[in-house]
Amino acid sequence: MKFFLDTANLEQIKEAQALGVIDGVTTNPSLMAKEGIAGKQNILDHYVKICNIVDGDVSAEVISTDFEGMIKEGEELAALHPQIVVKVPVIKDGIKAIKYLSSKGIRTNCTLVFSAGQALLAAKAGATYVSPFIGRLDDNSTDGIELIRQIVDIYNYYDFGTMVLAASIRHTMHIIKCLEVGADVATCPLDAILGLLKHPLTDLGLQKFLEDYNKLNK
Ligand code: G3P
Repeated sequence: MKFFLDTANLEQIKEAQALGVIDGVTTNPSLMAKEGIAGKQNILDHYVKICNIVDGDVSAEVISTDFEGMIKEGEELAALHPQIVVKVPVIKDGIKAIKYLSSKGIRTNCTLVFSAGQALLAAKAGATYVSPFIGRLDDNSTDGIELIRQIVDIYNYYDFGTMVLAASIRHTMHIIKCLEVGADVATCPLDAILGLLKHPLTDLGLQKFLEDYNKLNK
């Protein structure tokens, strides 16, 4: 199971990389905008900066919504760095673009997935990753984890090679539940990853160990 960091913030990416448990990064246009990254060249440069910090895959999303535009952008993004995975929305032209890009050996991440049917088409088109957005489903009174379970089962049953990348993760229990149902990757905000460390008994236990040590070692 892999952990990706879901951010375009370079400081957070450095912090997570230093922790030693990060296998990649996912970004999207909203996350790039949050960091104030604007203008084509700045955006491309930012992806390269991210690739130079982390060891694993870095998802960079296309902005076009038509086939020609998506493959042009996809080829340009893929040429930036070997770690780049081209993120493509699960729309009709997006599926065609994923098929084309995968036939050229360009890895893809099919994004904005909210149903098993969309995940099926992404896998048939040869997507490297499929990104179901579990938090946004939960926000709309639909069980996001259940969708992950459904897609994992379908992919396993039919032996699809596409990896299930659980996205829109909001908290630590999302991560744990994704593991339980067999997601290949969880892409998370740094807070959710660091949240996995939290336990009051760990804090109390450490405090007691240090107090006992200090009693005899002043
Ligand atoms: O990578 C896309 C996804 O993680 C979006 O998350 O929190 O905006 O639903 P969120």
